[in-house]
Amino acid sequence: MSLLNKHAIFEKHSMLLLVGILVVVSIGGLVQITPLFYLESTIEKVDGMRPYTPLELSGRNIYVREGCYTCHSQMVRALRDEVERYGHYSLAAESMYDHPFQWGSKRSGPDLARVGGKFSDDWHVAHLIDPRSLVPESIMPGYPFLIERPLDTRNVAAVLEANRIAGVPYSDEMIEKALQDLMAQANPDSDFADEVSERYPKAIVRDFDGNPNMVSEMDAVVAYLQMLGTLVDFATFDAEAYSR
Ligand code: HEC
Repeated sequence: MSLLNKHAIFEKHSMLLLVGILVVVSIGGLVQITPLFYLESTIEKVDGMRPYTPLELSGRNIYVREGCYTCHSQMVRALRDEVERYGHYSLAAESMYDHPFQWGSKRSGPDLARVGGKFSDDWHVAHLIDPRSLVPESIMPGYPFLIERPLDTRNVAAVLEANRIAGVPYSDEMIEKALQDLMAQANPDSDFADEVSERYPKAIVRDFDGNPNMVSEMDAVVAYLQMLGTLVDFATFDAEAYSR
C-alpha cells in the first residue's frame, strides 16, 4: 500500500512524471544499446558469402528497377512457420553486400530470400514471361520484355565500383574483368567461363534464358534469382555461438 501511495506524487505532478519517464526510458535504452558498443560486429562470421557476380548484380538492378520488392520480401524471419516454408532464417551476413538491401516490407508473393535452386531456369523464364501459364491464380504481372531486351552492359564496371565505394570488397581485377565475367557467366562455352567460378565461388555458369545468341535481361534476372540464399554453408554455421 505504501508503495502505491508514493506513486501518487508522480500522478499529481506532471513535470515529475515527465522526469520519471525520461529516467526509465534512458535506463531501458542503455540496456539495449550499450552491449552493441562492445560487440566487434553484429554480422555473423559465415562461410560462403561473396559479392554478386556482374551478371547477378545486373539482375538485381533489374529486380529493383521493376519493383519486384513491392510484392516480394527477402527476409526469412526466425519463426517456425517461416523456417518450415522457406528454409533457414535469414542471417545479417546474407545481406551484407546488398546496397540497397531488399528485405522488403510486403508479401503479396512469397519470400524470395531462398528461392535459388528451387525451380529450373525454364520455370523462371516461363513464369516471368507469363506467371499464369504456370500458376493460374497468380496475380503477378508478366515481364515478357525481359527475354527480348539485350542486357545493357555499358556501366557494369562502374556499378561494381559504386558498390565498392559502399563497402563491397570488389578487387581491381573483378572490376577490370567485369564485362568479360558478365558475358562468360551466361555462356558456358566461353573460354573465360572458368575464370568466373574462380573469382566468384559457387557462381552458376549457364545460358539461363535458353538463347545462346544474346545476353538478355532475362539471363541476368534468372542468374540473380538462382543464387539467392544459396551462398552460406549452413553445415558449418553455428547459430548457438551467436545466441550466447
Ligand atoms: C503485384 C505483385 C508482384 C510483383 C510486382 C512481382 N511478383 Fe513475383 N509473385 C507474386 C505472386 C502473388 C506470386 C505467387 C504466385 C506465382 O507463383 O505466380 C509470385 C511468385 C514469384 C516467384 C515464385 C516464388 C515461389 O517460391 O513460388 C518468383 C521467383 C517471383 N515471383 C519473382 C518475381 C520477380 C523477379 C519480380 C519482378 C520482375 C516479381 N516477382 C514481381 C507477386 C508479384
